[in-house]
Amino acid sequence: MVKILVVHGPNLNLLGTREKEIYGELTLGQINQEIKKLAGQLNAEVKIAQSNHEGEMVEIIQQSADWADALVVNPGAYTHTSIALRDAVSGIGIPTVEVHLSNIYKREEFRHKSYIAEVCEGQISGFGINSYLLGLRAAVEIAGKGQSKQ
Ligand code: DQA
Repeated sequence: MVKILVVHGPNLNLLGTREKEIYGELTLGQINQEIKKLAGQLNAEVKIAQSNHEGEMVEIIQQSADWADALVVNPGAYTHTSIALRDAVSGIGIPTVEVHLSNIYKREEFRHKSYIAEVCEGQISGFGINSYLLGLRAAVEIAGKGQSKQ
């Protein structure tokens, strides 16, 4: 069974109340339920984490190296600022898919740059919850091609 870690970054705990016109009505709990449901259908084991802190996200990503076969990460605003998160992703060498609920290229210019995408397998942006679900499918596919960890 492939093992996938999903990491949600800052302010994503506010989903459901936060800027609904951009991020939709679903809460993070509801999104996580759908992620778990799809993981079951894809025969994948999934762990999910959320943090509002850059350093904690770095630690979560570092620690995943022992367990995960692939990562799905929504780095939130750290997408556009964090070299530390980028280095964590490239440092562990585990295939990573970057996801965003909104289409970051349709929004303010400061959101057009991702420091993380350049060290990821790919990026999915703009499909709401489906960005996570498509990202999970991609991660499971990529993880299946590698050697699964025990
Ligand atoms: C986001 C896009 C980021 O620009 C923003 O800072 C977020 C959410 C998204 O999922 O659309 O917090 O990552």
